[in-house]
Amino acid sequence: MTAVHDPTAARDTDAALLAGRYGSVPGTTPEVTDVIRQQLAHRSVRSFRTDPVSDAAVEAVVAAAQSAPTSSNLQTWSVVVVRDPDLKDRLAALSGDQEFIRQAPVFLVWLVDFARIAQLADRRGHGLEGADYVESALVGFVDVSLAAQNASLAAESLGLGTVFVGAARNNPEELAAELRLPGRVVAAFGLAVGYPAESDTSRVKPRLPQVAVVHHDRYQEHTQLPAVDEYERTIGAFYEGEGLAHSWIERVLARFGTVAGLNGRDRIGEALRNRGFDLR
Ligand SMILES: Cc1cc2nc3c(=O)[nH]c(=O)nc-3n(C[C@H](O)[C@H](O)[C@H](O)COP(=O)(O)O)c2cc1C
Repeated sequence: MTAVHDPTAARDTDAALLAGRYGSVPGTTPEVTDVIRQQLAHRSVRSFRTDPVSDAAVEAVVAAAQSAPTSSNLQTWSVVVVRDPDLKDRLAALSGDQEFIRQAPVFLVWLVDFARIAQLADRRGHGLEGADYVESALVGFVDVSLAAQNASLAAESLGLGTVFVGAARNNPEELAAELRLPGRVVAAFGLAVGYPAESDTSRVKPRLPQVAVVHHDRYQEHTQLPAVDEYERTIGAFYEGEGLAHSWIERVLARFGTVAGLNGRDRIGEALRNRGFDLR
């Protein structure tokens, strides 16, 4: 018997996904596809089963990453697939001592990589002056981010869970030594990958209302604070369910209000220079 497509049930599912993303049932009916459903269901996972992640799965995830657009096809990124438990343990210690890094069977370290280009310039006896500009580093950071998000979505489509790890930038030089990174290569972030633990309780975290982030033709400043106040209530209810402090506004200000909020990453400029990015 062929399955009967039930448009009402599909609409209910989509409305539930959108309600999860915004914390309330939307008044509109956006067009939703399977890819968008996958994206709407995203949640960071921080507890993993011990089941291994196959090489075939990792290869698929990397192929998805490489399918992302890349500035001028320059492909200024690489990724280290870390499975060795001892190495993962040391990387975890360098990355905010986050236990889920040890637990995840695979820790992907995403790199901005100008070493490949330096090698080919060297072989041709060609200069590389243009690489030492903030713009070029931005190209690398943008491209590696697009690639890694493609990877994360692909992993989720395989039933895996992921969480990004910006704390991989807490100790760039030590992390580079552990991974034997050459000069002109620096870690942008990590991505812990594994099958979500049975006990995993992570939920879809609501985002700001669209009115805060979408502008039509011209930027609108006056929509921001009312939208933030609305979000403060929505995310407050979410955080309450997680047993966390309720205020998003306080979280944002704790992160950006003082240098201490950068958790030591205020020295990233110096770390980049130490990694061979002599930026102007
Ligand atoms: C670049 C980046 C770095 C992140 N670093 C960390 C991290 O070090 N530790 C962590 O627990 N979560 C980290 N996260 C996950 C965010 O906290 C998470 O994406 C955000 O709270 C939204 O939750 P959601 O992904 O479940 O929707 C990071 C996310 C991004 C995009």
